Amino acid sequence: MKKELYSQEMADNYLEKKFESMAGKSAARKAPRQYAGLEALLKKNRSYREYDTAYKVTLNQLEAMVRMNRYLASGRNAQSLRFRLLTKDSGSDRLQGLYHLGRALPELNLPRKGAEPEAFIVICSTVPPGRNLYIDLGICCEGMLLKAADMGLQGVIICNFNADEVKKALDLPLDPLCIVAVGKGLEKIEIVDAAEGDDLNYYRKDGIHYVPKLTPESLILPE
Ligand SMILES: Cc1cc2nc3c(=O)[nH]c(=O)nc-3n(C[C@H](O)[C@H](O)[C@H](O)COP(=O)(O)O)c2cc1C
Repeated sequence: MKKELYSQEMADNYLEKKFESMAGKSAARKAPRQYAGLEALLKKNRSYREYDTAYKVTLNQLEAMVRMNRYLASGRNAQSLRFRLLTKDSGSDRLQGLYHLGRALPELNLPRKGAEPEAFIVICSTVPPGRNLYIDLGICCEGMLLKAADMGLQGVIICNFNADEVKKALDLPLDPLCIVAVGKGLEKIEIVDAAEGDDLNYYRKDGIHYVPKLTPESLILPE
């Protein structure tokens, strides 16, 4: 079996390296360096629903995202997910009109014309739905989107589509479970603190897209 070079994995880890070089030794002592890079990446990894169509995502970029699956956990290591890659040059327009964005912002009628995502990873499964498969799917989406963030791209997970319509439009051999859209996001997005019982719907105000997130106090169950 082909063994991957360690140096390739290191080259992939751009943000972590950047943090180390910027932070220097003293900052590294205060904040454990292995967490700082990941947290920055996770914060950047928001859901974008409007994209700069002047920027063309390449097949190489989508392949780099799919490559992350080799390092992700999978229940029973079944690895049942398969991927169809679509760029502007490989017929991504076949998906336009078949998915919906921003359920909490119906007045915006997203995706906005002229700001649609134009690159997609359609995730299919070789096995029927089940608990392990859905956990695998979540890990996969997050892993691939973190890679997109690491490459300076943005994306969104899309489940709001009709699987039969998408399967037919793309001539897929398997049922699609989920779509990950990728591109250069246009929105300004900020996270705001929320407590248990608050309205958790995202909203827009003065040109900023706000995403309420529960604070750790709300997340951790008391003894
Ligand atoms: C399972 C799942 C399905 C989602 N489906 C859609 C979707 O169909 N359309 C959409 O606009 N966003 C969708 N999203 C994005 C969520 O709305 C988004 O994650 C949430 O608003 C929090 O924002 P954040 O990702 O920036 O933290 C989905 C996210 C997940 C995890």
